[in-house]
Amino acid sequence: MKKYAFFYSLLCLGTVTIVVSSCGEQAKQAEYAAREDSMKAMVERGKYLAYSVVNCVDCHSQLDFEKFSLPLVPGTEGAGGMALHEAFKGFPGKLYIPNITPAGLGDWTDAEIARAVTRGINKKGDTLFPMMPFHYLNAIAEEDLNAVIAFIRTLKPIEKIHPAKEMFVPMAVFGPLPENNYKNNVKPDTADKVKYGEYLVTIAHCGECHHTKSPEGMPIPGMMFAGGNTESLIPFQVTSANITADSATGIGEWSELMFIAKFRTNAATENLQSKPGKFNTIMPWSFYGTMTDSDLKAIYAYLRTVPHVRNAVEKWKY
Ligand code: HEC
Ligand code: HEC
Repeated sequence: MKKYAFFYSLLCLGTVTIVVSSCGEQAKQAEYAAREDSMKAMVERGKYLAYSVVNCVDCHSQLDFEKFSLPLVPGTEGAGGMALHEAFKGFPGKLYIPNITPAGLGDWTDAEIARAVTRGINKKGDTLFPMMPFHYLNAIAEEDLNAVIAFIRTLKPIEKIHPAKEMFVPMAVFGPLPENNYKNNVKPDTADKVKYGEYLVTIAHCGECHHTKSPEGMPIPGMMFAGGNTESLIPFQVTSANITADSATGIGEWSELMFIAKFRTNAATENLQSKPGKFNTIMPWSFYGTMTDSDLKAIYAYLRTVPHVRNAVEKWKY
């Protein structure tokens, strides 16, 4: 009897060990799965920001200048290569937009990418040309920046090396670099529509085109979002709109619904495939037009709160 008891207890012990170790295994699997889910969610968030809000993929891909609002040429996502000196008349040098796929940034650390994005300093420590909107991205929240970096690491590597830039003016003329450490940034609660809208408008750098600028290219105080800047691109010319809530010259008469509809209509495939010739636009409708309704509503809410400026703008002056 004792003998059986001995075997029986051994059997029990074995069963307990198997149960315990399989429980441990299950817990580990669950932890891995949870980590994988949160990584997936982070990459998804980064993709959304990089395509629809901050538009990293807009500037850093080949764009189709013939089609409405310059949609991207599929297969070039993140590979850069757009020659700014060919696209913009009078560009002060020669600059090819860099490749931000893993083939271009493979040896950059996350901290180096974060510094380039938020402070305009490249891996070597040189200042970046401020078309890279680091003055605005200095306000990005750490979790959003980490998400964007996680996403661009998943872009298909495209082996394209572009010639180094040659600028005719020292980078120092583009002003002091932002000092703020993005780790200090606080992301507003989405429930606070106006504050969250301000955050989105900042990181989406809407002001880069929509703040009225002096002939030297400096934003004029009191003319935020009042438009009127003419971009003389080859092969068309377009002037940015007044997007303050002035009723006569801005978007004061637009309802929230009309605002969203404008983005959706302009980003519809048939529009993006059209060839508007000289009546084209640099407003990246194909990218911003994929923002969520709630983000567009927040942007609308914020734009209602900025000073209303009377400034009549003619978008196409042919
Ligand atoms: C409005 C256009 C524009 C947008 C939007 C933009 N970039 Fe850039 N970016 C540039 C230009 C132009 C340069 C080149 C600047 C230079 O070399 O002086 C650049 C440079 C860079 C560099 C440095 C690469 C190198 O090899 O030196 C990185 C990294 C980068 N961008 C990442 C991003 C990320 C990530 C985003 C989105 C969060 C983004 N960019 C959004 C235009 C843009
Ligand atoms: C690269 C420059 C550029 C950026 C960045 C930009 N815009 Fe525009 N936007 C324009 C130009 C140019 C026009 C006028 C031509 C057109 O309607 O497409 C315009 C037009 C508009 C219009 C239409 C106004 C009207 O009267 O028809 C709205 C609304 C608008 N922009 C909102 C925004 C918002 C919001 C952002 C940021 C999320 C933004 N824009 C970022 C260049 C830009």
